[in-house]
Amino acid sequence: MWNIDLTYRKEMQSTFERLYEKQAVLNQSRPLPNIALQKIKETLSVEWTYNSNSIEGNTLSLRETQMVIQEGITVKGKSLREHFEAKNHDKAVDYLYEIVSQDYVLRSIDILSLHGLVLRTIEDDFAGRIRNAGVRITGANFVPPNANKVSDLLDELIAFVNENPLGLNDIELATIFHHKLVWIHPFFDGNGRTVRLAMNLLLMRKGFPPAIILKNDRKKYYDALNQANKGNYQKLTLLMSQSLERTLNIYVTSLPDNDYNFQEISNIVEEPNFPYGQEYVSLLARQGKIDAYKEGRNWLTTKDAIENYMTNRKRKR
Ligand SMILES: Nc1ncnc2c1ncn2[C@@H]1O[C@H](COP(=O)(O)OP(=O)(O)OP(=O)(O)O)[C@@H](O)[C@H]1O
Ligand SMILES: [Mg+2]
Repeated sequence: MWNIDLTYRKEMQSTFERLYEKQAVLNQSRPLPNIALQKIKETLSVEWTYNSNSIEGNTLSLRETQMVIQEGITVKGKSLREHFEAKNHDKAVDYLYEIVSQDYVLRSIDILSLHGLVLRTIEDDFAGRIRNAGVRITGANFVPPNANKVSDLLDELIAFVNENPLGLNDIELATIFHHKLVWIHPFFDGNGRTVRLAMNLLLMRKGFPPAIILKNDRKKYYDALNQANKGNYQKLTLLMSQSLERTLNIYVTSLPDNDYNFQEISNIVEEPNFPYGQEYVSLLARQGKIDAYKEGRNWLTTKDAIENYMTNRKRKR
Protein backbone atom coordinates (compact mmCIF):
# COMPACT_ATOMS: atom_id res chain seq x y z
CA MET A 1 0.00 0.00 0.00
CA TRP A 2 2.91 2.41 0.66
CA ASN A 3 3.89 3.35 -2.83
CA ILE A 4 4.74 7.00 -2.17
CA ASP A 5 6.97 9.06 -4.44
CA LEU A 6 8.16 12.12 -2.53
CA THR A 7 10.14 13.77 -5.33
CA TYR A 8 7.45 16.49 -5.54
CA ARG A 9 8.72 17.84 -2.24
CA LYS A 10 11.28 20.28 -3.55
CA GLU A 11 8.70 21.92 -5.81
CA MET A 12 6.30 22.33 -2.92
CA GLN A 13 8.73 23.62 -0.31
CA SER A 14 7.97 27.32 -0.61
CA THR A 15 4.23 26.62 -0.65
CA PHE A 16 4.50 24.59 2.55
CA GLU A 17 6.50 27.37 4.16
CA ARG A 18 3.83 29.89 3.25
CA LEU A 19 1.09 27.69 4.69
CA TYR A 20 3.01 27.30 7.96
CA GLU A 21 3.68 31.04 8.17
CA LYS A 22 -0.03 31.72 7.93
CA GLN A 23 -0.83 28.97 10.40
CA ALA A 24 1.59 30.67 12.83
CA VAL A 25 -0.09 34.02 12.29
CA LEU A 26 -3.43 32.42 13.12
CA ASN A 27 -2.14 30.52 16.12
CA GLN A 28 -0.52 33.65 17.54
CA SER A 29 -3.83 35.45 17.29
CA ARG A 30 -5.65 32.81 19.32
CA PRO A 31 -8.10 32.98 20.90
CA LEU A 32 -9.32 34.46 17.64
CA PRO A 33 -11.16 37.73 18.15
CA ASN A 34 -14.74 38.69 17.59
CA ILE A 35 -17.91 37.83 15.84
CA ALA A 36 -16.46 38.28 12.36
CA LEU A 37 -14.43 35.12 12.75
CA GLN A 38 -17.40 33.17 14.05
CA LYS A 39 -19.18 34.25 10.89
CA ILE A 40 -16.31 32.98 8.74
CA LYS A 41 -16.47 29.62 10.43
CA GLU A 42 -20.19 29.35 9.72
CA THR A 43 -19.79 30.44 6.12
CA LEU A 44 -17.00 27.96 5.56
CA SER A 45 -19.02 25.15 7.13
CA VAL A 46 -21.82 25.76 4.63
CA GLU A 47 -19.29 25.94 1.77
CA TRP A 48 -17.73 22.71 2.96
CA THR A 49 -21.10 20.92 2.95
CA TYR A 50 -22.12 22.41 -0.38
CA ASN A 51 -18.87 21.56 -2.17
CA SER A 52 -18.39 18.10 -0.74
CA ASN A 53 -21.98 17.04 -1.42
CA SER A 54 -21.94 18.64 -4.81
CA ILE A 55 -18.81 16.73 -5.85
CA GLU A 56 -20.81 13.63 -5.03
CA GLY A 57 -23.78 14.70 -7.18
CA ASN A 58 -26.05 16.61 -4.82
CA THR A 59 -27.80 19.32 -6.87
CA LEU A 60 -28.58 21.85 -4.12
CA SER A 61 -26.91 25.20 -4.82
CA LEU A 62 -24.75 26.94 -2.24
CA ARG A 63 -27.64 29.22 -1.30
CA GLU A 64 -30.11 26.31 -1.12
CA THR A 65 -27.70 24.35 1.03
CA GLN A 66 -27.46 27.31 3.36
CA MET A 67 -31.25 27.63 3.57
CA VAL A 68 -31.71 23.94 4.28
CA ILE A 69 -29.05 23.96 7.00
CA GLN A 70 -29.57 27.31 8.67
CA GLU A 71 -33.26 27.89 8.15
CA GLY A 72 -34.61 24.35 7.86
CA ILE A 73 -36.28 25.27 4.60
CA THR A 74 -37.43 22.65 2.09
CA VAL A 75 -36.45 23.41 -1.49
CA LYS A 76 -39.10 22.68 -4.10
CA GLY A 77 -38.10 20.08 -6.67
CA LYS A 78 -35.22 18.65 -4.63
CA SER A 79 -35.38 15.15 -3.21
CA LEU A 80 -35.67 14.28 0.45
CA ARG A 81 -32.33 12.55 0.15
CA GLU A 82 -30.59 15.73 -0.98
CA HIS A 83 -32.02 17.56 2.01
CA PHE A 84 -30.80 14.86 4.37
CA GLU A 85 -27.37 14.93 2.77
CA ALA A 86 -27.04 18.63 3.50
CA LYS A 87 -28.25 18.36 7.09
CA ASN A 88 -26.24 15.23 7.79
CA HIS A 89 -23.01 16.68 6.48
CA ASP A 90 -23.53 19.80 8.53
CA LYS A 91 -23.99 17.68 11.66
CA ALA A 92 -20.81 15.79 10.80
CA VAL A 93 -18.91 19.10 10.57
CA ASP A 94 -20.25 20.08 14.00
CA TYR A 95 -19.18 16.73 15.39
CA LEU A 96 -15.73 17.18 13.95
CA TYR A 97 -15.32 20.57 15.63
CA GLU A 98 -16.40 18.89 18.87
CA ILE A 99 -13.80 16.14 18.80
CA VAL A 100 -10.83 18.01 17.34
CA SER A 101 -8.26 19.48 19.70
CA GLN A 102 -4.52 20.10 19.81
CA ASP A 103 -3.74 16.61 21.06
CA TYR A 104 -6.22 14.79 18.84
CA VAL A 105 -5.01 11.33 17.75
CA LEU A 106 -6.69 9.70 14.76
CA ARG A 107 -8.96 6.76 15.62
CA SER A 108 -10.92 4.46 13.33
CA ILE A 109 -14.01 4.89 15.49
CA ASP A 110 -14.06 8.59 14.60
CA ILE A 111 -13.94 7.79 10.89
CA LEU A 112 -16.84 5.40 11.37
CA SER A 113 -18.77 7.97 13.40
CA LEU A 114 -18.31 10.62 10.72
CA HIS A 115 -19.46 8.14 8.10
CA GLY A 116 -22.43 7.23 10.31
CA LEU A 117 -23.48 10.87 10.49
CA VAL A 118 -23.04 11.39 6.73
CA LEU A 119 -25.30 8.48 5.76
CA ARG A 120 -27.77 8.51 8.66
CA THR A 121 -31.40 7.93 7.58
CA ILE A 122 -30.21 7.83 3.97
CA GLU A 123 -28.56 4.43 4.03
CA ASP A 124 -29.03 3.29 7.60
CA ASP A 125 -27.93 -0.26 6.80
CA PHE A 126 -24.47 0.95 5.79
CA ALA A 127 -24.04 4.07 7.91
CA GLY A 128 -20.95 3.76 10.10
CA ARG A 129 -20.14 0.27 8.78
CA ILE A 130 -17.32 -0.92 6.58
CA ARG A 131 -18.32 -2.78 3.45
CA ASN A 132 -18.61 -6.57 3.23
CA ALA A 133 -18.43 -6.89 -0.55
CA GLY A 134 -16.56 -5.51 -3.55
CA VAL A 135 -16.92 -1.99 -4.96
CA ARG A 136 -15.81 -0.16 -8.08
CA ILE A 137 -15.06 3.52 -8.58
CA THR A 138 -16.31 4.90 -11.88
CA GLY A 139 -13.46 6.32 -13.94
CA ALA A 140 -10.72 5.04 -11.65
CA ASN A 141 -7.60 3.28 -12.92
CA PHE A 142 -7.75 0.52 -10.26
CA VAL A 143 -10.19 -1.67 -8.35
CA PRO A 144 -10.36 -1.14 -4.55
CA PRO A 145 -9.09 -3.98 -2.37
CA ASN A 146 -11.14 -7.04 -1.51
CA ALA A 147 -13.66 -6.51 1.31
CA ASN A 148 -11.91 -9.00 3.60
CA LYS A 149 -8.79 -6.82 3.54
CA VAL A 150 -10.50 -3.54 4.42
CA SER A 151 -10.39 -3.77 8.18
CA ASP A 152 -6.65 -4.55 8.34
CA LEU A 153 -5.78 -1.94 5.74
CA LEU A 154 -7.71 0.66 7.69
CA ASP A 155 -5.80 -0.18 10.87
CA GLU A 156 -2.55 -0.05 8.96
CA LEU A 157 -3.42 3.38 7.55
CA ILE A 158 -4.32 4.78 10.95
CA ALA A 159 -1.07 3.46 12.43
CA PHE A 160 0.79 5.07 9.53
CA VAL A 161 -0.84 8.42 10.22
CA ASN A 162 -0.20 8.26 13.95
CA GLU A 163 3.39 7.03 13.70
CA ASN A 164 4.24 9.07 10.62
CA PRO A 165 7.33 6.99 9.74
CA LEU A 166 8.24 9.17 6.74
CA GLY A 167 8.24 12.35 8.81
CA LEU A 168 5.62 13.97 6.58
CA ASN A 169 4.39 17.46 7.38
CA ASP A 170 0.72 17.98 8.25
CA ILE A 171 -0.31 18.83 4.72
CA GLU A 172 1.43 15.82 3.23
CA LEU A 173 0.03 13.58 5.92
CA ALA A 174 -3.53 14.77 5.30
CA THR A 175 -3.05 14.35 1.54
CA ILE A 176 -1.70 10.83 1.76
CA PHE A 177 -4.28 9.85 4.35
CA HIS A 178 -6.96 11.19 2.02
CA HIS A 179 -5.73 9.23 -0.94
CA LYS A 180 -5.08 5.96 0.91
CA LEU A 181 -8.51 6.04 2.51
CA VAL A 182 -10.36 6.45 -0.78
CA TRP A 183 -8.02 3.86 -2.28
CA ILE A 184 -9.07 1.36 0.41
CA HIS A 185 -12.65 2.59 -0.14
CA PRO A 186 -13.85 1.15 3.19
CA PHE A 187 -17.54 1.93 2.62
CA PHE A 188 -20.14 1.12 0.01
CA ASP A 189 -20.91 4.82 -0.37
CA GLY A 190 -19.90 8.10 1.21
CA ASN A 191 -16.14 7.47 1.08
CA GLY A 192 -15.34 10.82 -0.49
CA ARG A 193 -17.44 12.89 1.88
CA THR A 194 -16.14 10.99 4.89
CA VAL A 195 -12.48 11.40 4.01
CA ARG A 196 -12.88 15.07 3.13
CA LEU A 197 -14.13 15.42 6.69
CA ALA A 198 -11.59 13.15 8.38
CA MET A 199 -8.50 14.59 6.68
CA ASN A 200 -9.41 17.93 8.19
CA LEU A 201 -9.06 16.45 11.66
CA LEU A 202 -5.35 16.16 10.86
CA LEU A 203 -5.12 19.79 9.74
CA MET A 204 -7.43 21.41 12.25
CA ARG A 205 -5.75 19.82 15.26
CA LYS A 206 -2.72 21.89 14.27
CA GLY A 207 -4.67 25.12 14.08
CA PHE A 208 -5.24 25.13 10.31
CA PRO A 209 -8.72 25.94 9.03
CA PRO A 210 -10.43 23.19 7.01
CA ALA A 211 -9.17 22.55 3.48
CA ILE A 212 -12.23 22.57 1.24
CA ILE A 213 -12.00 20.90 -2.15
CA LEU A 214 -14.18 22.95 -4.44
CA LYS A 215 -16.76 21.51 -6.76
CA ASN A 216 -15.14 23.49 -9.58
CA ASP A 217 -11.97 21.46 -9.04
CA ARG A 218 -13.72 18.10 -9.28
CA LYS A 219 -12.03 17.10 -12.54
CA LYS A 220 -8.63 18.17 -11.29
CA TYR A 221 -9.28 16.31 -8.05
CA TYR A 222 -10.18 13.01 -9.74
CA ASP A 223 -7.25 13.35 -12.09
CA ALA A 224 -4.94 13.95 -9.11
CA LEU A 225 -6.35 10.85 -7.40
CA ASN A 226 -5.59 8.75 -10.47
CA GLN A 227 -2.00 10.03 -10.35
CA ALA A 228 -1.82 9.19 -6.65
CA ASN A 229 -3.00 5.65 -7.42
CA LYS A 230 0.31 5.32 -9.25
CA GLY A 231 2.28 6.67 -6.30
CA ASN A 232 2.60 10.20 -7.67
CA TYR A 233 1.30 12.69 -5.11
CA GLN A 234 2.36 15.93 -6.78
CA LYS A 235 -1.00 17.01 -8.14
CA LEU A 236 -3.00 15.97 -5.11
CA THR A 237 -0.58 17.74 -2.76
CA LEU A 238 -0.81 20.90 -4.82
CA LEU A 239 -4.61 20.76 -4.90
CA MET A 240 -4.75 20.17 -1.16
CA SER A 241 -2.32 23.01 -0.49
CA GLN A 242 -4.29 25.39 -2.67
CA SER A 243 -7.55 24.38 -1.01
CA LEU A 244 -5.98 25.00 2.38
CA GLU A 245 -4.38 28.27 1.35
CA ARG A 246 -7.74 29.59 0.26
CA THR A 247 -9.33 29.15 3.67
CA LEU A 248 -6.14 30.26 5.44
CA ASN A 249 -6.22 33.46 3.40
CA ILE A 250 -9.84 34.04 4.29
CA TYR A 251 -8.90 33.89 7.97
CA VAL A 252 -5.64 35.83 7.93
CA THR A 253 -7.06 38.66 5.84
CA SER A 254 -9.89 39.07 8.33
CA LEU A 255 -7.52 39.59 11.25
CA PRO A 256 -7.24 43.18 12.42
CA ASP A 257 -4.02 44.88 11.21
CA ASN A 258 -3.24 42.30 8.54
CA ASP A 259 -1.35 43.72 5.57
CA TYR A 260 -2.48 41.31 2.88
CA ASN A 261 -4.13 42.89 -0.10
CA PHE A 262 -5.58 40.18 -2.30
CA GLN A 263 -6.95 41.31 -5.64
CA GLU A 264 -7.96 39.72 -8.89
CA ILE A 265 -4.95 39.19 -11.11
CA SER A 266 -6.57 41.22 -13.90
CA ASN A 267 -6.70 44.26 -11.58
CA ILE A 268 -3.06 43.95 -10.63
CA VAL A 269 -1.66 43.55 -14.12
CA GLU A 270 -3.79 46.42 -15.45
CA GLU A 271 -1.83 48.94 -13.42
CA PRO A 272 0.34 51.14 -15.60
CA ASN A 273 3.95 49.92 -15.79
CA PHE A 274 3.20 46.60 -14.14
CA PRO A 275 5.87 44.43 -15.74
CA TYR A 276 4.08 41.06 -15.98
CA GLY A 277 1.08 39.94 -17.96
CA GLN A 278 -2.14 38.23 -16.94
CA GLU A 279 -1.25 34.87 -18.53
CA TYR A 280 2.10 34.62 -16.82
CA VAL A 281 0.84 35.59 -13.37
CA SER A 282 -2.11 33.18 -13.72
CA LEU A 283 0.28 30.39 -14.59
CA LEU A 284 2.37 31.10 -11.47
CA ALA A 285 -0.84 31.03 -9.42
CA ARG A 286 -2.04 27.73 -10.85
CA GLN A 287 1.35 26.14 -10.32
CA GLY A 288 1.40 27.23 -6.69
CA LYS A 289 4.50 29.35 -7.21
CA ILE A 290 3.00 32.49 -5.72
CA ASP A 291 0.65 33.11 -2.84
CA ALA A 292 -2.71 32.96 -4.59
CA TYR A 293 -6.10 31.36 -4.32
CA LYS A 294 -9.11 30.88 -6.49
CA GLU A 295 -12.52 32.35 -5.74
CA GLY A 296 -15.12 31.19 -8.25
CA ARG A 297 -13.41 31.44 -11.62
CA ASN A 298 -10.88 34.08 -10.65
CA TRP A 299 -7.46 33.84 -9.10
CA LEU A 300 -6.64 36.33 -6.38
CA THR A 301 -3.12 37.29 -5.40
CA THR A 302 -1.17 40.25 -4.04
CA LYS A 303 1.38 42.54 -5.64
CA ASP A 304 3.79 41.60 -2.86
CA ALA A 305 3.43 37.90 -3.67
CA ILE A 306 4.40 38.48 -7.31
CA GLU A 307 7.27 40.80 -6.39
CA ASN A 308 8.60 38.38 -3.74
CA TYR A 309 8.60 35.56 -6.24
CA MET A 310 10.51 37.61 -8.80
CA THR A 311 13.08 38.76 -6.26
CA ASN A 312 13.71 35.20 -5.07
CA ARG A 313 14.03 33.99 -8.61
CA LYS A 314 16.64 36.59 -9.43
CA ARG A 315 18.57 35.75 -6.28
CA LYS A 316 18.62 32.06 -7.17
CA ARG A 317 20.06 32.76 -10.64
N1 LIG B 1 -9.65 7.59 -9.61
C1 LIG B 1 -9.84 7.57 -8.29
N2 LIG B 1 -8.94 7.00 -7.49
C2 LIG B 1 -9.11 6.98 -6.14
N3 LIG B 1 -10.17 7.52 -5.53
C3 LIG B 1 -11.10 8.10 -6.28
C4 LIG B 1 -10.97 8.16 -7.70
N4 LIG B 1 -12.06 8.79 -8.19
C5 LIG B 1 -12.79 9.13 -7.13
N5 LIG B 1 -12.23 8.72 -5.98
C6 LIG B 1 -12.69 8.96 -4.60
O1 LIG B 1 -13.87 8.24 -4.38
C7 LIG B 1 -14.87 9.12 -3.93
C8 LIG B 1 -16.23 8.60 -4.35
O2 LIG B 1 -16.58 7.53 -3.50
P1 LIG B 1 -18.05 7.37 -2.91
O3 LIG B 1 -19.07 7.44 -4.00
O4 LIG B 1 -18.09 6.24 -1.96
O5 LIG B 1 -18.11 8.69 -2.04
P2 LIG B 1 -19.31 9.73 -1.97
O6 LIG B 1 -19.08 10.63 -0.82
O7 LIG B 1 -20.62 9.04 -2.07
O8 LIG B 1 -19.09 10.53 -3.29
P3 LIG B 1 -18.02 11.63 -3.54
O9 LIG B 1 -16.78 11.16 -2.89
O10 LIG B 1 -17.89 11.70 -5.03
O11 LIG B 1 -18.50 12.86 -2.89
C9 LIG B 1 -14.46 10.47 -4.56
O12 LIG B 1 -14.92 11.59 -3.89
C10 LIG B 1 -12.99 10.43 -4.44
O13 LIG B 1 -12.55 10.85 -3.16
MG1 LIG C 1 -21.41 8.15 -3.73
